Amino acid sequence: MKHALVLLLIAPTLFGAAAIRPQQLRAEYRVNPQGIDVTDPRLSWVLAAVDPKARGLRQSAYRVIVASTERALAAGTGDLWDTGKVASDQSTQVVYRGKPLTSGAAAFWKVQVWDQAGQPSEWSAPAQWSMGLLHPQDWQAKWIGRDEPDTTTAHRLAARLLRKEFDAPKTVRRATVYYSGLGLSELYLNGAKVGDHVLSPGLTDYDKHVLYVTFDVTKQIAAGRNVIGLMLGNGRYHAPRVDARTRNFGDPKAILHLDVEYQDGARASVVSDESWKLSTAGPIRANNEYDGEEYDARLEQTGWNRAGFDDGKWEPAHIVAAPAGVLAAQMAEPLRVTETLKPVSVKMLKRGVYIFDMGQNMVGWCRLRVAGPKGTQVTLRHAETLQPDGSLYVANLRTARVTDLYTLKGEGAEVWEPRFTYHGFRYVEMIGFPGAPGVPPGPAALEGRVVHDDMEKSADFTSSNALLNQIHHNMFWGIRGNYRSIPTDCPQRDERQGWLGDRSQVSRSEAYMFDVAAFYTKWMTDIADSQKPDGSVPVVSPNYWPNYYDDLTWPGTFVFVHGMLYDEYGDKRAMERNYPAMKKWIDHEATFLKDGLIPKDQYGDWCVPPEDPKLIHSVDPARITDKTLLGTSYYYELLRTIARYARLLDKPADAADFDKRAVEVNAAFQKRFFKPADGIYDNGTQTSSILPLYFGMVPPDNRAAVFEALTRNIEQKSDGHVGTGLVGAQWLMRTLTDNGRPDVAYQIATQKTYPGWGYMVQKGATTIWELWNGDTADPAMNSGNHVMQIGDLAVWMYEYLAGIRSYPDRPGFQRVIIHPVPAGDLTFVKASHKSMYGTIATSWKRDAAHFTLEVTIPPNTSALVTVPAKETPAVTESGRPIKYLRVEPGAATYEVPSGTYTFVSTL
Ligand code: BGC
Repeated sequence: MKHALVLLLIAPTLFGAAAIRPQQLRAEYRVNPQGIDVTDPRLSWVLAAVDPKARGLRQSAYRVIVASTERALAAGTGDLWDTGKVASDQSTQVVYRGKPLTSGAAAFWKVQVWDQAGQPSEWSAPAQWSMGLLHPQDWQAKWIGRDEPDTTTAHRLAARLLRKEFDAPKTVRRATVYYSGLGLSELYLNGAKVGDHVLSPGLTDYDKHVLYVTFDVTKQIAAGRNVIGLMLGNGRYHAPRVDARTRNFGDPKAILHLDVEYQDGARASVVSDESWKLSTAGPIRANNEYDGEEYDARLEQTGWNRAGFDDGKWEPAHIVAAPAGVLAAQMAEPLRVTETLKPVSVKMLKRGVYIFDMGQNMVGWCRLRVAGPKGTQVTLRHAETLQPDGSLYVANLRTARVTDLYTLKGEGAEVWEPRFTYHGFRYVEMIGFPGAPGVPPGPAALEGRVVHDDMEKSADFTSSNALLNQIHHNMFWGIRGNYRSIPTDCPQRDERQGWLGDRSQVSRSEAYMFDVAAFYTKWMTDIADSQKPDGSVPVVSPNYWPNYYDDLTWPGTFVFVHGMLYDEYGDKRAMERNYPAMKKWIDHEATFLKDGLIPKDQYGDWCVPPEDPKLIHSVDPARITDKTLLGTSYYYELLRTIARYARLLDKPADAADFDKRAVEVNAAFQKRFFKPADGIYDNGTQTSSILPLYFGMVPPDNRAAVFEALTRNIEQKSDGHVGTGLVGAQWLMRTLTDNGRPDVAYQIATQKTYPGWGYMVQKGATTIWELWNGDTADPAMNSGNHVMQIGDLAVWMYEYLAGIRSYPDRPGFQRVIIHPVPAGDLTFVKASHKSMYGTIATSWKRDAAHFTLEVTIPPNTSALVTVPAKETPAVTESGRPIKYLRVEPGAATYEVPSGTYTFVSTL
């Protein structure tokens, strides 16, 4: 008893005395991921301050325990891995080094940390992951489906229904299902949908990889008879378009493997094979991502996915050829319905034709609520904008029919939403709604279901400039709407491809707003998959449109994104894995060098603001950047970037070689394009100055003059507006601000007149357009939801206006640079970014005399804070003087550990 008391009294100093608590445990970036296939997953946790006011919180040591059962974990037995106490401040990217993880293994884990004073924390709440099927032979299942004799011209397949009954005779301890249904699928167990994924699995080049998903279905297995039901749609496996450029992989097919472990230790599996039944007579009569879905509720086969259904009329599933690609676990977040919008208005266009306005250009589909006679057909058509007469503007959708058709079964209230299509839209035209003639359907008839890869939103931004806030809103909606397990160019027309060029630096912008680590890691695999043996990388990946132009600027994204993953998440693994592929591509491109220059580029500075509002592409030579200039400057930057990777990956010889080649390329570039007398390159477009400036190619003595020429061009030729296309826009805002003209960047960002992001807002945009003149140009190419022209705008908002960025040598925000730039007439900015270490926040305001900056730095990180201040700074922090690290004209810099700080300076 006495001992127990003593123990109780000293317990707090043993456990739980630490000033930090480990939380938000993740494996491979995800919370409790199921069915991963990385055998040495990376673990991370966030340290929460016990006292939110505390400063200087650090982790001095950690201990991770990984157990094969929940019980072992609770008992503190790390039968898979017990690191013991490791003296380290590492709380992200901690690589699992325990016992080898086998197919299907479950891993339960928790972490304990010690704080800066050596005090131990309590154990975290338990977390888990499970392994997928790691070897092809683990899949005892066969691919099943039904190949049509000839669908090359029709491409209208009814969604297949597949079913299989099985018995679970004993009490189940654990049941796990692994499956892939191509192109798209929904799984049911005893009538209930398994999981909440939509448009699953993710897109890949199916000749290289096929993704499968894993669910723990222990709770869904019933005692006795069970039924698996699978709905199979076309997706991109069964090509949505019959044209020469779109690859078709085949007819829909599925593979499924259900593992059941009984309480008594017995095991059984249920696998897809010829004993399954198949029907093509289900309610989804046609489904196409671009064209829409046709659903006839009269054909619902009630109870098809439950026990007792008479499947006597169904045919046996056919064993079909497996896709050529290797099965791989889907490691990124799935697509989900993340939000439901209610229409802001319903208008009658003419009798029986109604237009719903969702109030926001969104991506997903509609949920319909309707009651009426059997056989009534309701048609929904989707568009981003309206014509002057209030009808849908669909010319810019090209051949995408974007039409969903629902046929009522006539049994009272019917609620329906499509499964195997999606649309990019703000307006919906509804025809055929039953009801009293001339009485419009109420707003409850239709809701907008917002669909995208469900990545955590990781940022907030608001400022004193309402236009800037609206632009941020538009970027947020545009970016998330273009996540369709790949980053697409657009969500609405007949394209929706993973265009590489669009994401060069936009991906860095995105990294501030969403947790994109796993998503972009996956896309890098897609791109590596689409590389040709000779090293060529296409401009679209997965290469559903196999466009191999040996272009520089578009495929350059393959190289750049690895730097983003490193800087923003401290992730070197993708870089390491894809380094050989990147190197191969860089070397392949070298074969095109001519006199040290890359004399080609496929698209140029795509979509510069044209001189004539009707044009898509400018024909004014003064606006067009020379393609050799683009290709060569990009090649220089790519050589330097891969040299950096080589150094990070400890390949000094490679690094030296790339650096040397970069110097040679720059020498040729200067010789060919530089006009020192005018401080311009070639014809002096904005982009032709931005690239050499940002890439550091300009001879030091000429930098000032080149920058001066750039700002002169912006002020005089563009009247303070943007004059770049996709390529220049990737570096524009940073070039201006880094060189001391944040005011020009701010002016460009907040212009309300053409061209600019603010102009789009003035014209009612709620996302970002493809073209600066998206309101007037030819419909062949005026998507209302394209992210490419965002360029580095969000990087600028977060890194410069809010002043939050990661210190290059301590990537992933382990050390944070806080350096707000109070541009233009901004009087306040308040922003946050959720890093892997936790949320970093800044909030600043200024008046004529003072600048006040509040900063929050999460535990286990530190920051270099630069505060705008008069030359002799009298800066206070929380009301007291503070010692600076250094002062420069107009700013003072401080080094601070974690915590919340309030700096006040005199301006
Ligand atoms: C796409 C763009 C892409 C471009 C390149 C367009 O059709 O929508 O986003 O980068 O083509 O040509």
